[in-house]
Amino acid sequence: MSKKYVAEPYRIKMVEPIVETTKEERIEFLKNAGYNPFSLRSEDVYVDLLTDSGTGAMSQEQWAMMMTADEAYAGSKSFYKLESVVKHITQYKYFIPAHQGRGAEQIVLPQLVTKKGMYFISNIHFDTTRAHVELAGARAIDCVIDECFDLELDHPFKGNFDLERLEKIINEKGSENIAGIIMTITNNSAGGQPVSYENMVGVKKISKKYGITVLIDGARYAENAFFIKEREKGFKDKSILEIARMTFDLADIFLMSAKKDGLVNMGGIIAIKDNEHLFKLCQTYIVPYEGFPTYGGLSGRDMEALAQGLTEALDMRYLTHRVDQIRYLGDMLKEAGVPIQYPVGGHAVFVDCGKIAPHIPYDQFPALSVTNALYIEAGVRGVEIGSLLLGRDPDTHQNLKSPKEFMRLTIPRRLYTYQHLDVVGQAMIEVFKHKDELVGYAFDYESPMLRHFTSTFKPIKKQ
Ligand code: F0G
Repeated sequence: MSKKYVAEPYRIKMVEPIVETTKEERIEFLKNAGYNPFSLRSEDVYVDLLTDSGTGAMSQEQWAMMMTADEAYAGSKSFYKLESVVKHITQYKYFIPAHQGRGAEQIVLPQLVTKKGMYFISNIHFDTTRAHVELAGARAIDCVIDECFDLELDHPFKGNFDLERLEKIINEKGSENIAGIIMTITNNSAGGQPVSYENMVGVKKISKKYGITVLIDGARYAENAFFIKEREKGFKDKSILEIARMTFDLADIFLMSAKKDGLVNMGGIIAIKDNEHLFKLCQTYIVPYEGFPTYGGLSGRDMEALAQGLTEALDMRYLTHRVDQIRYLGDMLKEAGVPIQYPVGGHAVFVDCGKIAPHIPYDQFPALSVTNALYIEAGVRGVEIGSLLLGRDPDTHQNLKSPKEFMRLTIPRRLYTYQHLDVVGQAMIEVFKHKDELVGYAFDYESPMLRHFTSTFKPIKKQ
């Protein structure tokens, strides 16, 4: 931590007890869950680092605003309040709410796929984004810089696009076959790593040259702006809002899972800069899938909480603490020799399980193995971000090999204290000491899509 006295920039007004379990109980819970941490009951988890999505704590102001909500089906005043906040931040002309990020994806992405054989290019597509690209009949190509996978390299913007490769892909596939370029900020799937402003300007230039639509997948756009302010030349004196606006100016469409930097438990955003035709299409399609365009799957209460949360997430004191918590856990693991991605990103510590368990092949899921061992050790739930999540090639059905086998320890916003993070760090160090005992997993049942959520497994006994 950088300052002498640092603590959470809030005090706790309402408490939620958490249960402690024994190791014997956890072995049984995990077996009953088919060795898939997604199938554990959260009651049986002590510190839940599965995701930072919708798991944060709301402020007293958010709870207070919820009491003022208007639950009208059409034209709710809570919609107009949220619309004005989204427009204020993005400076875009059009806004439609959605129930969460994937709701926004399912409405917008198919509108951009106008024929067969089209592609989206992203630094790295998040898994639901990839799924909606494929459901829309297109294919997803990832185009992040190689430095992203050099885990020890101290690079300030490991989420950046490889701009040379981006242009090469466009030329290879034909610019008329590119449905859109998706800037995922921060780049969740490879460490919550930020993308620099300069790199996004590069993406914009290329997109302009070839006439391609640019989308921002901005679940964590405020964290990305924080890193730009901290690390990029010329941004030190700009506010997070100013940096965010400069970022939005580089794109045509903003999709957001508001469950992250919206500081709410549920919500999604579609914002469109100025394409009225696309806005009208989305307004039409939102009705059968999400709901009438002035609620899009959200209650008035949700929209009130989000309008307030979006504003709070731009606060520097909040963001400084947020990122400090991730660094705190990261430093603890690094000092103990646990291989992690360095520098850590904005929402999670990514543990390099390929390095911890090189004796487990990629299709026996080393990161699932570490995740399960950590749960058994201390009731801490992380999540596999590796070959299990990547799934199979949609055309050949072969198991894809992820460049890295990560376990993500995702820190929810404003939820846990530094002491909780101490528990996580100590337990992970213990697992690391016994790394040679880790075993791989085979499928008991493999679900056909987004398989990491619902598949079940069997541990592979050591010979
Ligand atoms: N885009 C990004 C970059 C995300 O991280 C997520 C969700 C989505 C889109 C989809 O949004 O969940 O609201 O439908 N990420 C969560 C996670 C689930 O755990 O990282 P959603």
